[in-house]
Amino acid sequence: MEFISKELSEYCEQHTSPESPELRALNRETHLKVLSPRMLSGHLQGAYLSFVSHMIRPLYVLEIGTYTGYSAICLVQGIREGGKLISLDVNEETSLLAQTFIDKTPVKDKIELVVADAKAYIPGLTQRFDLVFIDADKRNYALYYDLVFDKVAPGGFIMIDNVLWSGKITMPEEAMDKDTLAIHEFNKHVQNDSRVENVLLPIRDGIMMVRKKV
Ligand SMILES: C[S@@+](CC[C@H](N)C(=O)[O-])C[C@H]1O[C@@H](n2cnc3c(N)ncnc32)[C@H](O)[C@@H]1O
Repeated sequence: MEFISKELSEYCEQHTSPESPELRALNRETHLKVLSPRMLSGHLQGAYLSFVSHMIRPLYVLEIGTYTGYSAICLVQGIREGGKLISLDVNEETSLLAQTFIDKTPVKDKIELVVADAKAYIPGLTQRFDLVFIDADKRNYALYYDLVFDKVAPGGFIMIDNVLWSGKITMPEEAMDKDTLAIHEFNKHVQNDSRVENVLLPIRDGIMMVRKKV
């Protein structure tokens, strides 16, 4: 489900800085060769992620859910000198493809792809992250948020993708499937978390923006 009309969506893209040739190729090849290309952030959301990265100027960024690397290439854009983005994914095949795309970009040395289950890997991370992007399996959103929270710098940001879940999030709770219910519970978890400020933006499939209070 699109939250805005196709015409408005196209208008937004036409009035957003164009995709770089590398991102356009990645987007196209993912749609041609990979299962579930809808998972890819895409032009508008990608430009937004890049914008946020430029505004925050993070040192360390963590991404949970690499897929073919589109959002990683966007999120790394504003990283300060000496910093890096760590991106986790359980899928070895899509991670390999992501690496081939990333290797063609000028930011390749700032991105570290890790093939691992985020649940097992996050507890061992020692960096302090200025920005985290959660975009993996929806049923574990609350777990990822809780695992990563103490590793986020005070004043740092967590962004969580797909929190409107194609609009299914407004169904009565008793009619929700497991993924929708998990996302709904997660949105309430954030809303009730006194340690943060948050805003839910209806960009693409919904992005929850969270700022950890100082
Ligand atoms: C929606 S896609 C990520 C899309 C990507 N961030 C983008 O915008 O182009 C979700 C990814 O999460 C990965 N994933 C699922 N469960 C995971 C887990 N337990 N640990 C790490 N990654 C996981 C999947 O393999 C999939 O590639």
